[in-house]
Amino acid sequence: MNFLNGNFTIISKTLTGLEEVLRDELLLLGANNTKILKRGVEFEGDKRLLYTCNYMCRTALRFIVPIAVFTAKDENELYSRVKRISWENIMKLNQTFAVDGITSSSNLKHSKYIALKSKDAIVDRFREKTGKRPSVDTDNPKIRINIRMHQNQCTVSLDSSGDSLHLRGYRVRSSPAPLNEVLAAGIIGLSGWDMTESLFDPMCGSGTIPVEACLMAMRIPPGKYRRDFSFMNWMDYDKHLWEDITRFYDEQILTSPPCKIMGSDKNPRMVSIAKTHASSTGLRKHIELTEADFFAVPSPFDSGYIITNPPYGERIPLENSIKFYKSIGDTLKAKYTGYAAWIFSGDLEALKNLGLKATKKIPLLNGQIECKFQKFEIYSGSKKEKNQQN
Ligand SMILES: C[S@@+](CC[C@H](N)C(=O)[O-])C[C@H]1O[C@@H](n2cnc3c(N)ncnc32)[C@H](O)[C@@H]1O
Repeated sequence: MNFLNGNFTIISKTLTGLEEVLRDELLLLGANNTKILKRGVEFEGDKRLLYTCNYMCRTALRFIVPIAVFTAKDENELYSRVKRISWENIMKLNQTFAVDGITSSSNLKHSKYIALKSKDAIVDRFREKTGKRPSVDTDNPKIRINIRMHQNQCTVSLDSSGDSLHLRGYRVRSSPAPLNEVLAAGIIGLSGWDMTESLFDPMCGSGTIPVEACLMAMRIPPGKYRRDFSFMNWMDYDKHLWEDITRFYDEQILTSPPCKIMGSDKNPRMVSIAKTHASSTGLRKHIELTEADFFAVPSPFDSGYIITNPPYGERIPLENSIKFYKSIGDTLKAKYTGYAAWIFSGDLEALKNLGLKATKKIPLLNGQIECKFQKFEIYSGSKKEKNQQN
């Protein structure tokens, strides 16, 4: 049963600050009529593009497909309009499902109630048609449905991704404060790294930045390690199309990255976790991972990109963090001439103490924490002298 025909609207969701880098990725994958939203991008595409985006897009958390839009001023209207949708063409009776609600500026003010009424409408439709009802599973549903009310306009969407796409499938060990994979891919994208220059994360923790960088440089699809996407449970799932897409992109994977990629951390446990993650992607031999104190060792390359996410947050008292960030600045000035250093941090006060002038500052959110991603170009003399040399 095909309920997705031709071109339709797709909404991709992402983290605050990554909207433009996501839009650029979607354009490269073939998206049409892109429109930037708050924490997302709306675009048009067909089923091939929907599957492709789920497999290939590094900076999206999920892709949802609106299937009905209507006005619902009260719960009865919501119930009857949701019940009118041909759910039997979308999902099977024996598949579990879950409904998420969200509401703003509408008569229906409670998102949980909106989800409950919609769930009742779906269940009742199946019961009337078949005498049986599908089961709800809020933890691990096969079919995920989003109901969004805004100014009494209801949009019913299907979530094509399922678990958030930052769950790539390679993170097999837990660690304190790992960077979200989508955020890591997003900051690498924002940095302008062209995948030919050496890339070094000197405080790599669980290895997210080097692993994401290596996946990009080798053109490995970020969805390669995931087994499950929600659209695979839809009635109109086209397995041949999916296999065709994955084959096409898998054939473009390079045998090695066209540059050096390295991570180090002073904590041996973190280095061991980073090595596990590099191994679980099959990239262990392409990423150099070492135990090292950033302040104590020489720079590994003559020039390149540093992209790093030093410690920040409640665990470090401000006084110490100011000293710590000052040492980062001093180390960069002393040992990293010729590098572009990008630092991602939520410690905005400490960032001011690096003693270097940022040439770019990009505000981002990490969860609820306001962060900045800042670029520092490390020249041998002053910037003026450098400009005169060119
Ligand atoms: C916020 S965590 C990085 C998280 C990482 N991006 C990830 O995704 O897992 C900061 C890391 O800096 C490391 N670190 C702190 N001081 C360091 C130093 N002087 N040299 C090297 N690593 C250091 C810590 O061990 C910690 O793993």
